[in-house]
Amino acid sequence: MAARAIKNSVDWVGAIDWDRRLFDELIPLPDGTSYNAYLVRGRDRTALLDTVDPTRATELFENLKELGTDKIDYVIAHHAEQDHSGSLPAILALHPQAKVVTNPKCREILETHLLIPPEKFLTIGDRETLDLGGKTLEFIFAPWVHWPDTMFSYLREDKILFTCDFLGSHLATSDFFVRDEPATYHSAKRYFAEIMMPFRANIRNHLEKIKDLQIEVIAPSHGPLYDRPAFIIEAYKDWVSDQVRNEVVLAYVSMHGSVRKMTDHLTEALIKKGVKVLYFNLTRTDIGELAMALVDAATIVIGSPTVLAGAHPAAVYAAYLANALRPKTKFVSLVGSFGWAGKMPEAIKGLISNLNATFLEPVVVHGHPRPQDFVALDRLAEDIRKAHLSVGAC
Ligand code: FEO
Repeated sequence: MAARAIKNSVDWVGAIDWDRRLFDELIPLPDGTSYNAYLVRGRDRTALLDTVDPTRATELFENLKELGTDKIDYVIAHHAEQDHSGSLPAILALHPQAKVVTNPKCREILETHLLIPPEKFLTIGDRETLDLGGKTLEFIFAPWVHWPDTMFSYLREDKILFTCDFLGSHLATSDFFVRDEPATYHSAKRYFAEIMMPFRANIRNHLEKIKDLQIEVIAPSHGPLYDRPAFIIEAYKDWVSDQVRNEVVLAYVSMHGSVRKMTDHLTEALIKKGVKVLYFNLTRTDIGELAMALVDAATIVIGSPTVLAGAHPAAVYAAYLANALRPKTKFVSLVGSFGWAGKMPEAIKGLISNLNATFLEPVVVHGHPRPQDFVALDRLAEDIRKAHLSVGAC
């Protein structure tokens, strides 16, 4: 992909990774991604803002060449993760005079993970500026977008905010600026859920920190750029708020059909009561979709059979994931069955201790559910409806 101009002397020089389908050997990327690097050329100095994943370094070099970049004075490292900093050693080899401009925490990680020598760094403080000659970069520290090192850069003269992972989306698209807002909303929400949701309080602070900036363009490190910044900022405000929706994430696994009969019944009962159900069969679920469903739902219900005296591993994984992602969920419960013994409910409960949620009485049956068990499931549906009303779930 050739370089693309954002404004005069401010260009995108990154790479679109149409084919990537997995990140960190963990996160599915159904729509690929991009690694957005930017070149800012001032009257006196040139700065490269981030690099790209090392697998795509050639594209970065070609884009820099296309723009006639014979000298880079600064490489701004917003975040040390490989998808943005992995080509840094190669850039420094080509431009040995360049200084890596970053904050102390990012510097520490770049030194330990990429073995970049200390003399290469120019360490800056929060709200410090760097004058390139008619182009002034202001650095805004934003730790815990998901690592402790992230910062943003605000290009004052052009009113462009470079936000690294924050406000980004794993979305490979030919649109340079967002033109398909529903598709971008979906990808951005999924990305928020997968890596930023555990840091909601920090994300709220970051939104507060940038609220007084005049922003014409938001340039994240993944996905298309925003020339209508309010679109993504308003979406983030909603995601980090404490407001939950009248929704149940019902994530289940069933070995012989008993649990499935229970989750089907519970789903129908909830629908009749006006509660939306996001239904996931954990043997087939894309974990990104599950994470995204957790952003707004008032309640999580996990369905599991008993395996070797504990919960099914797929249910364990879902519980572990929910616990790690720390959604704003207000209520949790369980449905499940056992054959002859077991501590499935205790096993699941022990895995979700991070969730600041009220535990609603579970329904666990011996073998196949009987009429009284379906009555108990109706009771659980009613408990959920009332619980949602009590917190104003909308
Ligand atoms: Fe896109 Fe946290 O790296």
